[in-house]
Amino acid sequence: YFSKNSSFDRKGIARYCARPMRIVLLGAPGSGKGTQSQRLVERHGVPQISTGDLLRAAVKAGTPLGVHAKAIMDAGKLVDDATMLGIIRDRLGQPDARKGFILDGFPRTIAQAEGLTRLLDELGTPLDAVVLMDVDYDKLIKRISGRRSCTNCGRVFNIHTAPPPPEGCCAASHLVQRPDDKEETVAKRLQVYDEQTKPLVAHYTGQGLLRMIDADAEMAEVTQRLEAALVERSGEGLLVKEGRA
Ligand code: AP5
Repeated sequence: YFSKNSSFDRKGIARYCARPMRIVLLGAPGSGKGTQSQRLVERHGVPQISTGDLLRAAVKAGTPLGVHAKAIMDAGKLVDDATMLGIIRDRLGQPDARKGFILDGFPRTIAQAEGLTRLLDELGTPLDAVVLMDVDYDKLIKRISGRRSCTNCGRVFNIHTAPPPPEGCCAASHLVQRPDDKEETVAKRLQVYDEQTKPLVAHYTGQGLLRMIDADAEMAEVTQRLEAALVERSGEGLLVKEGRA
């Protein structure tokens, strides 16, 4: 992700890659949180914790949580804070989360953010950074309308920007649209984001944790911007002056 002209020195990058990564990706529906989380997982070897994926798995399995969540998700609303904090407490308690995590879709309300801070304080593993992925709403609607996922492996594609391969596991005949990606539900999800999740921007700015990136670019370019924001955030003198790299 770091180009030849990168302004980070090699030792700095090595130190950055070796650090535990405990981050939140914040952004409206369709801003690319899931896509970028998967790219960071490959590079840093820490788990992606997507509350949307956890809830969809529960719906698929027909568990009591899934039954509770399905109607709420289909309506584009948020599952209650107590339920979500319980899910996150369980997930962060699993061994793979000890080396770090990428939170995708959590927290989504101030109450969830406060609960997360308390939980991480208990575990002695505070957040490193919260990255806000900024994309205009008209672009988000186009991205979401084109999203399709593979029923075999769960990989996410986009009929406009990231088309599936013509054959094999993820061929078009195996792709489905998420029930909450219908136009009327997307409008509701964006409204809920504005009302309940956007206040987290001021919340985390106040804690000195927020970084914002322009996430309206090619996926690889967004990854590069994300990594650069995280290096800056790590505040360990990793930045070297332009021309010395
Ligand atoms: P969740 O699954 O978290 O949905 P979301 O936040 O609305 O986010 P999305 O998954 O829609 O988008 P994304 O940002 O991950 O974008 P993606 O990478 O897929 O939550 C679903 C529901 O669960 C909620 O509505 C709620 O009901 C419930 N829920 C979940 N968490 C909760 C919580 N904490 N509290 C309460 N309720 C909760 O990309 C989108 C598309 O764009 C893809 O097709 C992708 O291929 C494409 N794309 C990505 N990047 C680019 C790019 N750079 N250029 C072009 N196309 C791109």
